[in-house]
Amino acid sequence: MITSEGGGAILRTIGSLGSLTGSRVIVRCDLNVPLTDGVITDDGRVRASLPTLQLLLDQGARVIIISHLGRPGGAPDPAYSLAPVASRLSELLDHPVGFAVDTVGPDATAKVAALDNGEVLVLENLRFNPGETSKSEAERQVFAGQLAAYAEAVVSDGFGVVHRKQASVYELEKLRPSAAGLLIAEELAVLDRLTENPERPYTVVLGGSKVSDKLGVIAHLLPRVDTLLIGGGMLFTFLAAQGHRVASSLLEAEQLDTVRGYLREAADRGVEIVLPTDIVVAASFAADAAHVVVAANAIENTEFGASGIGLDIGPDSAAEFARRIRASQTVFWNGPMGVFELPAFAMGTRTIAQALTDTPGFSVVGGGDSAAAVRQLGFGDHQFGHISTGGGASLEFLEGSSLPGLEAVGWAAPQ
Ligand code: 3PG
Repeated sequence: MITSEGGGAILRTIGSLGSLTGSRVIVRCDLNVPLTDGVITDDGRVRASLPTLQLLLDQGARVIIISHLGRPGGAPDPAYSLAPVASRLSELLDHPVGFAVDTVGPDATAKVAALDNGEVLVLENLRFNPGETSKSEAERQVFAGQLAAYAEAVVSDGFGVVHRKQASVYELEKLRPSAAGLLIAEELAVLDRLTENPERPYTVVLGGSKVSDKLGVIAHLLPRVDTLLIGGGMLFTFLAAQGHRVASSLLEAEQLDTVRGYLREAADRGVEIVLPTDIVVAASFAADAAHVVVAANAIENTEFGASGIGLDIGPDSAAEFARRIRASQTVFWNGPMGVFELPAFAMGTRTIAQALTDTPGFSVVGGGDSAAAVRQLGFGDHQFGHISTGGGASLEFLEGSSLPGLEAVGWAAPQ
């Protein structure tokens, strides 16, 4: 459960900061959106940041927004400028939004000083400064101190980045009175619902390319879920662990023993790990590659032989996954079922997304690629119970990890 400081103190909420009228408030958002040639291709994270910003503006705060964008490596790079994001924010807020071309330099300093009540300023990408992501705590402290000098209070609302121990996510929050914003509170309420007595049957759908990214979450979920449906590139390591040949499909051979262990543990616990029974195998990794559907135990027996690559789950598997999703009361999905960016290999991902929208239960799409996939395939956010803004963050939360950005605003996981 999430309660305000007064009610049990496991997450500091904005109310705990008192009146913010006239105060300079730094809001740490995650505005790390996909950009193509400077054009935002999915503004979900910008939209998700609006409620907190609107609340602060309604209070007459002077709002300073900070965020990272991409991984520019600690130096300015125009390809990663937040300028297009500031413009989009202005459109969505229907309010002027200023922009500083640096983060802690002369432009930011002058524009912060000139902010009036109810005005908004976006500072340039935090990661243009090496202090933001430095491994050295001392360097992060210096950068956090420079940011803190701009404001009397800090609101942390970048849920997508709370798993990173970075200056603006962790150290900054300790230098000023700080609290979690509305987005973080909402995301935690959803994740709580998945971890504290979820309605059953509880089904988790995992995909994406690498099984090694999902080991922690699988280990943590096995005692908690009824069914795990496995798709995406990671499924081939599961098939190989069962003794099947996977031709040139993605395989993490070093994870085979771990995966065998999960299959045994699932059997012992009575948890069903459901693997695809058919696969779309292509001649190569290309949009127009020749492809066929084969049984999951015959991937190497196609006309492409050992060079065949599995790029999607097959139609029978997609239908079976969809049937199980529709019969669930709680569903969490992270990771595409196939190479959804290429239309020929998007069927599995589209079928799973459709099933999540149909289920009468509570459906959660876990950020990152899965959120991008559902939007790219034409689904609307309102069709799901919740689309998380945090891929890595929501997975790490479900792994039971302690998240620095949540710890910094008083979060303590319920025991
Ligand atoms: C994300 O997109 O997952 C967050 O914005 C964090 O970005 P990062 O993985 O580059 O730290």
